[in-house]
Amino acid sequence: MKNAIIITLLFTFLFCFQNAISQIQVKSADKKIELNFIIENDSIYYSVEYINHQIISPSKLGFEFLKQEALSNNLKIIKVTNIAVDTIWVQVWGEQKEIRNEYNEAFIELEETDGLKRKMNLRFRVFNDGVAFRYEIPSQDNMNEINITNELTQFILPNNLNAWFIPANFDSYEALYQKLPISDIESANTPITFESNEKDLFISIHEANLTNYAGMTLKKKENSTNIFEANLVPWPDGIKVKTNTSTKTPWRTIQISSSAEALAESFIILNLNEANKIKNTSWIRPTKYIGVWWEMHLGTHTWTTGDRHGATTLRMKEYIDFAAANNIESVLAEGWSTGWEKWGVPRAFDFVTPYPDFDIEAIVAYANKKGIQLIGHHETGGDAEYYEEQMDTAFKLYNSLGIHHLKTGYAGAIVPAGQHHHGQFMVNHYRKVVETAAKYQLNINAHEPIKPTGIRRTYPNMMCREGARGMEWNGWSDGNPPEHHTILPFTRILGGPLDYTPGIFDLLYKNAENRVKWNGNDKGSSRINTTLSKQLALFVVLYSPWQMAADQVHNYKGQPAFKFISDIPVNWEFTNFLNASIGEYVTVVRKDWNSDDWYLGAITNETAQSLEINLDFLDEGETYIAEIYKDAPDSDWKTNPYPFEIVELEVRSVNNLMLVLAPGGGQAIRFSKKNKK
Ligand code: NOJ
Ligand code: CA
Repeated sequence: MKNAIIITLLFTFLFCFQNAISQIQVKSADKKIELNFIIENDSIYYSVEYINHQIISPSKLGFEFLKQEALSNNLKIIKVTNIAVDTIWVQVWGEQKEIRNEYNEAFIELEETDGLKRKMNLRFRVFNDGVAFRYEIPSQDNMNEINITNELTQFILPNNLNAWFIPANFDSYEALYQKLPISDIESANTPITFESNEKDLFISIHEANLTNYAGMTLKKKENSTNIFEANLVPWPDGIKVKTNTSTKTPWRTIQISSSAEALAESFIILNLNEANKIKNTSWIRPTKYIGVWWEMHLGTHTWTTGDRHGATTLRMKEYIDFAAANNIESVLAEGWSTGWEKWGVPRAFDFVTPYPDFDIEAIVAYANKKGIQLIGHHETGGDAEYYEEQMDTAFKLYNSLGIHHLKTGYAGAIVPAGQHHHGQFMVNHYRKVVETAAKYQLNINAHEPIKPTGIRRTYPNMMCREGARGMEWNGWSDGNPPEHHTILPFTRILGGPLDYTPGIFDLLYKNAENRVKWNGNDKGSSRINTTLSKQLALFVVLYSPWQMAADQVHNYKGQPAFKFISDIPVNWEFTNFLNASIGEYVTVVRKDWNSDDWYLGAITNETAQSLEINLDFLDEGETYIAEIYKDAPDSDWKTNPYPFEIVELEVRSVNNLMLVLAPGGGQAIRFSKKNKK
């Protein structure tokens, strides 16, 4: 399809001065979604309809400022510019190579009717799969510095929806998702996803391109059942955003679809971000990795040096050997540099001095010899201030050692004190890390991060992040229940890739008898709450360009199921969701970016499922070998999680397959052409 950008100046808005109402309408290309911007009695609102049903009732827009009048009423339209865009762009890496960006836009310039005559603009974009808008405050004579004390944006939703959400939290997204009727929710982090009782309407609210601004949470308006208001994460003094004119807010996004599958295939968040700014991308690459990591969460090893130290030269060599023999590209080491013994106090972590039993030069040389990359690790404990002091030196060291992948972490209260993980200060800190990392050719995987809002399009070295209740929670808490993984693709991962770190094979920690409970959180019930084949399926279902086989290597040795992990790529040309019911089950297929292979992952919650799929995603007329890793007839996550079967079948695009999933189970399949070219 050819790129097309049609610019038309349309003055189609309707002025009804008699009623003091003016309205601008924008429709999606397929005409199913209609957005209205409304000025009524001088106040500004927007509303959204989907197939003739109102899904956002007229909802307020505007700001309150410190020492300035609010900007939300006494406004008139000065000019409206409409454009239509339909273009395709190519990702540097991703869950899909080519992305279509098709929308109709109205850029609405507003000015106060009297007084200071301050100006504020709104840009609305209507896609076939949702709407988005942002505020733009231009530079102007009567306004310069801006301290936002409240963003007045509302989202008034239909009353008959249920939501999948985690409560608003200014410092962590590591919570289990809840499903509640809209009336019972008090607050939420975004993305928050709503579904109708009939499961024919799905709406997800989030934000895109969160830059130099505070993260947005939602708060229910007092005494209302369905009115959500933006609640921005504050600075220590209570101000939400400190900036000046010539400011653009993040996009407020409302993804809309009639199926959970289509919701998960929406690319609105990426489309609303700016194009790639990094010219030389040769060093930016997805990676499959193992590492010295899970053993610390289990408590068999420590981050600190001593008898049980995890990251020793000897152990790293064992991991490098395993990686080289099993088609794994990279090895992570946590607990390699001094400071872990001071975790919890400011200025604790050192990012350049290895522990004496971690010979960094020797390890790098060994890895190079074996063709393996090392992954660096910086745990800041939340001390962003100290990290900024050390960043250049620390990044330079990795660069000089030829290391291109860096995992960061912010496990602890933020320094400077009073700042939140999700406020403007930290949004800017995380961005500074990404930009500095680009200078030193480092790909970033951030833990305890700001949520993903599509920045990876502009900085493709910002590859993935945590920002969810990941695998680690199974090490030292009641863990993640089987339904958790069937919710993540329709909530957290709508924002972007997740470093969940799947692939634990020792599900009941049989080979970890000497574990020491290290943080008091272990309820005694810690284990992995899935079957073994579900661990494989998670590699397909939970998208990440860094995909970790998280178990210790001795649990993989001699395991036939490891072949799936060894085979699977981490970069995809296409992604299709074949079936889904949020919280119950989901099946995803992805095509390898570099070969004709397809991979399938299907997972379920506590309930067994039989899911019939057809294979029409495969090339017509071709015979494929399907290598199937599935639950055994008696598998059950709770009572019998280990058994699995490996079966090989010849299949064609006209065939159907029945995926039989055990309670808490899953299935993983590799499809490769029988006659490879
Ligand atoms: C929390 C991170 O999520 C985890 O991956 C890491 O191992 C620990 N912090 C220590 O840095
Ligand atoms: Ca974490």
